[in-house]
Amino acid sequence: MEENGISKAIISRLPRYYRYLGELKEEGVERISSKELSIRMHVTASQIRHDLNHFGGFGQQGYGYNVENLYREIAKILGLNRKHHLIIIGAGNLGQALANYGNFESKGFLVEGLFDQNTELKGTNKKGIPIYGMEELEPFIRKNRVDIAVLAIPKSAAVVVAKRLTECGVRAIWNFAHTDLDLPKDVVVENVHLSESLMQLSYRMKKR
Ligand code: NAI
Repeated sequence: MEENGISKAIISRLPRYYRYLGELKEEGVERISSKELSIRMHVTASQIRHDLNHFGGFGQQGYGYNVENLYREIAKILGLNRKHHLIIIGAGNLGQALANYGNFESKGFLVEGLFDQNTELKGTNKKGIPIYGMEELEPFIRKNRVDIAVLAIPKSAAVVVAKRLTECGVRAIWNFAHTDLDLPKDVVVENVHLSESLMQLSYRMKKR
């Protein structure tokens, strides 16, 4: 599977490179060879070179990678060099946990509002983030910039809500509801299913 000519497997590895480079930066490391990086990350040096070559390489023979520069370039590739404005649909356990998680903000993902059909939640807030009623969804999106909508609602509601979101212009959905969404081609959807990850762990335990 490819996106903009780059395989999804490569794209899925970029956040990990970004995390390791961030740690190296914090440790004050200025440059690193693909070999040293490969040892840290438990992948092969050729895999690192192959992945990064898709974006222009960034390394220099005999020097390796400049950590700060590579960190910045990967941030650019991932689109982390700009702010993303998020709304979360569903202010239950998951929606509130996501709103509570401070690390998103440090990466430029700003949660601007939670939306829920439960009228008891309307008008309250989570960590200062307002909780709105669902009737406020379209007016909010028309008035505010919304780059990403997070679906933290039951699957029975997800399809209808996703349609509402896309009809008023939202073009990226982070979907936690356990259902596949059939949306226009220009809408990007990233499904996150923790239970699928757990099942993969179970499979790997069985193979041992
Ligand atoms: P919850 O029951 O605590 O919260 C769900 C919230 O959605 C409630 O506040 C409810 O009022 C609201 N809601 C229901 N229908 C709605 C609609 N049509 N419009 C707006 N709000 C609506 O449930 P929890 O634990 O927060 O889980 C939420 C969803 O996320 C569930 O479908 C669950 O299966 C899923 N989930 C997915 C995970 C994953 O890894 N993908 C992990 C945990 C939960």
